[in-house]
Amino acid sequence: MRKKIHLVVLFGGRSGEHEVSLMSARSVLAALKRERYEVIPVGIAKDGRWLASPNALEAFAAGRLEGLTPVTLLPDPSRRGLWQWEGESLKPYAPVDAVFPVLHGTFGEDGTLQGLLEMADVAYVGAGVVGSAVGMDKGIFKDVMRAHGLPLAEYVLLSRREVEADAEAAADRCEAVAPYPLFVKPANLGSSVGITKAHHRAELLAGLHLAARYDRRIVVERGLDAREIEVAVLGNAEPRASLPGEIVPGEEFYSYEAKYEDDTSQLLIPAPLSAEQTARVRDLAVAVYRAIDCAGMARVDFLLERESGVFYINEVNTLPGFTHISMYPKLWEATGLPYSDLLDELVALAQERKRERDSIRRER
Ligand SMILES: Nc1ncnc2c1ncn2[C@@H]1O[C@H](COP(=O)(O)OP(=O)(O)O)[C@@H](O)[C@H]1O
Ligand SMILES: [Mg+2]
Repeated sequence: MRKKIHLVVLFGGRSGEHEVSLMSARSVLAALKRERYEVIPVGIAKDGRWLASPNALEAFAAGRLEGLTPVTLLPDPSRRGLWQWEGESLKPYAPVDAVFPVLHGTFGEDGTLQGLLEMADVAYVGAGVVGSAVGMDKGIFKDVMRAHGLPLAEYVLLSRREVEADAEAAADRCEAVAPYPLFVKPANLGSSVGITKAHHRAELLAGLHLAARYDRRIVVERGLDAREIEVAVLGNAEPRASLPGEIVPGEEFYSYEAKYEDDTSQLLIPAPLSAEQTARVRDLAVAVYRAIDCAGMARVDFLLERESGVFYINEVNTLPGFTHISMYPKLWEATGLPYSDLLDELVALAQERKRERDSIRRER
């Protein structure tokens, strides 16, 4: 019998997507093959504490964190595995072969956690430090896409300071990008938080002030009349793209409410596209993935402009929603890879990447 893989499943976290993460983790924990994995669930509380227990997910969902075991992972590779706090000292809690961060947004998807996992010298699912960070920052991401000649809607990047110092001048710069509607986004959030679709200057000014509350940097871009097409990408050196899917938002755009609070939005899998369009968007998805040096997985989101038929890259999510009804796993299911086999592949890719990292020479 093969030795079981000690797999830490991390969920919760300090971002606004804490609750979304719990939903994703519920599906992941339910689908992991127990004959293959020794699963170690660890929740990260909103204040950043790491708390472990075989039933940590239920405890987090119920908001009852007392009684869970405080644990930590150390950046010192001579002290491997999870450690448990006992008063002011540490003792071993569990060995760790790989970590599956089922965390969305800040401190989970943005490269910070990935940095800790690199320091700890452990295999982990998904993109590395750079891929995560570039995927998270909508401003830098666009700059990288542009450098690769990949298609983007016109945009401008502003700083919070600019908005605070002279909002009218900032609005002038935005209006020079394209006619209304304009989309205003904080560079670093997800789940549509802090995003405004501005139809005129007053909405633009309000949107700039709103976005400035959420980030130091703000992206403003041309609003497209477009269909929303998403592609799932999987792999390390040889990434492959799933069939495309389409989101039909029930509201004017795919807002936080549309994503999580009502069920007016529809997923079409596969997206009703021509064979040429399907091939084009799959190729683009892989090009985006490679451009940010992604690994493991990512969902690449496009806006297909109705009038021109042009695919514009909207954004990439390196830790996409992972519930059994989420787009990323559903796209793989439609492409012939069932949910629990997808998890196996992601863990195998994490281990492959770790072996690759171990083979890199660091001295002369
Ligand atoms: N340039 C745009 N033109 C038209 N719709 C857009 C544009 N940018 C964003 N949207 C709409 O807003 C939603 C959220 O924007 P997105 O950039 O995907 O942010 P998030 O990271 O919060 O998902 C998109 O799913 C889409 O419905
Ligand atoms: Mg999005």
